Amino acid sequence: MPAKKILITGGAGFIGSCFVRQTLTKHPDYQVINLDALTYAGNLETLRDIENNPSYRFIKGDIGDKDLVDKLFAGGLDYVVNFAAESHVDRSISGPEIFTRTNILGAQNLLEAARKYWPRSQTARYLQVSTDEVYGSLGPSGCFTEETPLQPNSPYSASKAGADLLTRAYFHTFGLPVLTTRCSNNYGPYQFPEKLIPLMINNALAVQELPVYGDGRNIRDWLHVSDHCGALDIVLHQGAPGETYNIGGHNEKENIYIVRLILSELKKSETLIKYVKDRPGHDRRYAIDSGKMEKVFGWKPRYTFEQGIRETIQWYVSNQDWVNSVKSGDYLKYYKKQYAGR
Ligand code: NAD
Ligand code: DAU
Repeated sequence: MPAKKILITGGAGFIGSCFVRQTLTKHPDYQVINLDALTYAGNLETLRDIENNPSYRFIKGDIGDKDLVDKLFAGGLDYVVNFAAESHVDRSISGPEIFTRTNILGAQNLLEAARKYWPRSQTARYLQVSTDEVYGSLGPSGCFTEETPLQPNSPYSASKAGADLLTRAYFHTFGLPVLTTRCSNNYGPYQFPEKLIPLMINNALAVQELPVYGDGRNIRDWLHVSDHCGALDIVLHQGAPGETYNIGGHNEKENIYIVRLILSELKKSETLIKYVKDRPGHDRRYAIDSGKMEKVFGWKPRYTFEQGIRETIQWYVSNQDWVNSVKSGDYLKYYKKQYAGR
């Protein structure tokens, strides 16, 4: 059987790079193409260790580029896993337009090409990597299931929900073999330091203020990035076309709990905590019911939160060169604008 060819988009980002690495290890016979526009969030430093792997090819480009995407499909693809996105809620509040362009129109461009090149294919798969944020915000109890109605509250989550709905429509209308996953908050190595956990670790290491939004009691449900990627590999190979799968780790934590844990691990003072103006439209609580993944595939996360967060903190302590290499001039400008006078 000829080797499978997989297109991974957004593979220079946090989760995509983990999936690229994991795919090369789990499926050494696959040809892996990583298509990434290298926005501020994508960095080839993250993939240094595999850049010379003969099964791997990097292409710098936009998922919205029709000619480029057409050319990649014309070269033959078995699987597409779409990670490419604008992924940061705060940036979607200060500049929503690019979120619509990349997350909705970019995804549609991939779906269109798949429709053209995969008519009646039984074996090809398009996997849309989505998020629990499309379900909106929870009250103090209950969890998101795959049947929870979509009620996105930020321009980011609305754009992700838009892509999910298009993915669904391409299955129902055109019979495209699609899969959708919705995962909770990821943490782990190589996460861009604008998101909660790496931002707090890096500020604590630099003995700078740790900006906590609102009362710090918003809840997120944390999953180690390698557990997310393991689940995606299972869904890609065993999932039923047209189905949606929730992925989560049953690790609900208040933001302030995480911030205090980081300070304590790094032996820094809690006086560094600064409560700042809340995020507009800030979702209060996310919690994922991943019962379908557990029941259908017997999937379970490998990491406990306690082990994963300690390893992650240590990773950032030992990899300050990587952190410094991704903090470009643009990032420093963003940081100043986002937190000045807050
Ligand atoms: P990230 O911001 O770290 O990476 C996104 C990558 O996409 C970057 O490498 C960037 O250069 C690339 N990209 C952006 N626009 C592009 C375009 N037009 N064409 C090609 N590449 C482009 O994001 P992440 O945290 O790794 O998230 C990856 C995916 O997983 C996203 O779709 C996100 O919505 C989803 N997701 C993330 C989380 C999380 O906690 N981080 C949880 C659930 C789902
Ligand atoms: O739930 C999955 C989603 O998780 C993904 O779809 C997104 O791509 C990913 O960015 C993440 O979104 P969040 O908004 O939950 O992540 P973020 O790290 O930005 O914020 C986590 C929580 O921490 C949230 O309640 C806001 C709070 N926060 C964040 C920052 C950056 C702070 O209190 N201070 C901060 O400086």
